[in-house]
Amino acid sequence: MNALDYYETDRALSEYLLFHYGSAPQVLPWSFGPAGALDYPVRCVSECLEFARLPGNARGLDLGCAVGRSTFELARHCSRVIGIDYSHRFIEVARRLQIDGAFPFALVEEGQLRTPATAVVPADIDRSRVTFEQGDAQALQKDLGQFDVVLLANLLDRLREPHRCLVTLPDLVAGGGQLIITTPCTWLEEYTAQANWLGGFLRDGKPVTTLATLRHTLEPHFSLSQTRDLPFLIREHSRKFQWSVALATVWIRHSQTRA
Ligand SMILES: C[S@@+](CC[C@H](N)C(=O)[O-])C[C@H]1O[C@@H](n2cnc3c(N)ncnc32)[C@H](O)[C@@H]1O
Repeated sequence: MNALDYYETDRALSEYLLFHYGSAPQVLPWSFGPAGALDYPVRCVSECLEFARLPGNARGLDLGCAVGRSTFELARHCSRVIGIDYSHRFIEVARRLQIDGAFPFALVEEGQLRTPATAVVPADIDRSRVTFEQGDAQALQKDLGQFDVVLLANLLDRLREPHRCLVTLPDLVAGGGQLIITTPCTWLEEYTAQANWLGGFLRDGKPVTTLATLRHTLEPHFSLSQTRDLPFLIREHSRKFQWSVALATVWIRHSQTRA
């Protein structure tokens, strides 16, 4: 199985619907767990987006949107938002959430035991501002135009050729617009051949970090406005969790090099 096929499975769909739309007790049914790591797709927007920089009628793009929670959160601040993901399954469900505002799924308790649950888009979000498209962040269609905010949440270390995606970003972000990149820097050969990793290896005996490569690639076009450490929690089942800390960087597009 190709590693990306995982994002077409029932298991991934359940995991991501819970990650994006689950309540605190659904995601973390333990009082002693890392509660600060909940609501990651919401916090990628609420903690990273520099609201004051957005123009009226702002356009947003969420690359690698999965089942769309950050895309909807961007719609609180942008009049139009596009969410793009490679997974046909995720985009099909994200579209249902856009149309119906809710989607039923099964929460994994243990083994084959499931609890019925429903993912619900918050009622105060204008869903008509959002569209979802299946696509490849490494080969986007040329006529997308420019955006005032582009978000890549935990996408880069799941791409076959992350550098190919990075170099297209200056053309996608309007002058003065912002690029938000979060990544747990979980470089794995099954998704990205080591020759294509952005960090996590030695070059000439010296460590290369993902942050250093982002700076080297993006700084000709953007200024780095902030870096943050964003914890997140993915529930696999009621007694097993992935706790990670993403590196979040926010970049402001230079106006003089606007495409
Ligand atoms: C680790 S998940 C992160 C999803 C979401 N942004 C979040 O933070 O929960 C990675 C996502 O990237 C998507 N993806 C992988 N390769 C992609 C590509 N070439 N283009 C667009 N999306 C891709 C996967 O389908 C999956 O939804």
